[in-house]
Amino acid sequence: MNSVLVASNRGPVSFTVSDDGVLTMRRGGGGLVSGLSGVAKDDGVLWVCAALSDDDRGAVRLSPGGRLDQAGYDTGPLRMLDIPATTFHRAYNAVANSTLWFVNHLLYDIPNAPSFGIRFAREWESYRDYNGAFALALAEEAGHGARVMVQDYHLTLTPAMLRAERPDLRIAHFSHTPWAPPEYFSLLPDEVAGEVLEGILGADHAGFLAERWAAAFMDCCEAVLGAEVDRAARSVTHEGRTTRIGVHSLGVDGAALWERAGEPDVESHITAIREQVGDRRLIVRIDRTELSKNIVRGLVAYGEFLAAHPEWHGRVVHLAFAYPSRHDLPEYREYTASVQRCAQEIENEFATEDWDPLILNVHDDYPRSLAAYRMADVLLVNPIRDGMNLVAKEGPVLSPRCALVLSREAGAAAELGPYALMVNPYDISGTADALHRALVMPEDERRARRDKLRAAATALPPQKWLAAQLDALG
Ligand code: G6P
Repeated sequence: MNSVLVASNRGPVSFTVSDDGVLTMRRGGGGLVSGLSGVAKDDGVLWVCAALSDDDRGAVRLSPGGRLDQAGYDTGPLRMLDIPATTFHRAYNAVANSTLWFVNHLLYDIPNAPSFGIRFAREWESYRDYNGAFALALAEEAGHGARVMVQDYHLTLTPAMLRAERPDLRIAHFSHTPWAPPEYFSLLPDEVAGEVLEGILGADHAGFLAERWAAAFMDCCEAVLGAEVDRAARSVTHEGRTTRIGVHSLGVDGAALWERAGEPDVESHITAIREQVGDRRLIVRIDRTELSKNIVRGLVAYGEFLAAHPEWHGRVVHLAFAYPSRHDLPEYREYTASVQRCAQEIENEFATEDWDPLILNVHDDYPRSLAAYRMADVLLVNPIRDGMNLVAKEGPVLSPRCALVLSREAGAAAELGPYALMVNPYDISGTADALHRALVMPEDERRARRDKLRAAATALPPQKWLAAQLDALG
């Protein structure tokens, strides 16, 4: 039986079956997985995650009790859940990604969405089943009094369900996203809003990446549930139980990142990019093609900057790496198309025979991203809203001289704000101006700021973040 368990939708690895039937394993993506991967494996923590595809389900079926490590994969202790595909799709795509993600990132086009009818009721039922499958697996795997750390908006109901099964456990829930203010959170049907909050309050400790998101969660508990909130002590009491609220920022493991970024595959990307762009200055962005990342406004801002500053024509290139994400959702496919359209407009307007002002790449390539960080003169991170944003932290660790243009709506702004050029993500002209200021920033100032950014970014590596959550459980 296990004494420390982690549960998340996406696990540290995923599988693909090649044409000849061979299963290949690769590392999972996203902020949560990057944060937890090394730590969980090193500390022997049992990780419970969902199979995300039929290929993952194939791997699970070949593993005793879904334990991939026991089937010989080098994953660290890992149990992957084979949840029926329909249930999984409704829970992950319809509820988690199209509803809870949209609510907490304020992404709805309000005159048209959301609308909650019979279809949503069915989807919500699947979300309950999916959360129930996690609660059941955790209840089976956890030793007496074990500490269980449930991650993110996919699993908001699991803490309360698990507590009902196993009152002996110490349970934490952690949100990697922002949290919506009550008036926006209340777009959800009342009973759904209540269930989400009560689900998380089933935990002993509810953690958030930034003060703002923790405060918004407490506001929602008060407004929606009428719970008793003690903001000074950071606690919420509801129906006789008290949940402590914690703020645990997440940073990067500077040494590990630095080591990875020095490998030969990264070096060859640096050489290739240098050949392509020459000695021009580089404005870099690296994101999932994600609505909340605000890529289109970022590109429009770059266009405005070029229009306002002809002196930079031929002397700067914008590398925009926007790798694919959540393509099962039509909104994401449309968004990718608008990113590509917008990039084409910039090309049409500004490109010359010997200057490509923008290189947009929509294919995931981790070593190439690391190469871009190392070469950046300016890093643009302008999300509409973001739980933390690790790109803003990874860039300054790897680049010797990059200036950071950062949205004030990213959780990372709380720590990096004083040393970055802050922008309102909706203010395109303001962002264009910040790009210019970042490019002309004097060398000593950019290095001084970069040092401060680097120190702030590495202050709370995943090891410390996990330890803080475990400590909070006693
Ligand atoms: C965000 C979420 C993570 C998630 C990641 C990637 O960072 O907070 O939980 O893993 O996005 O999203 P995906 O849908 O690809 O797992």
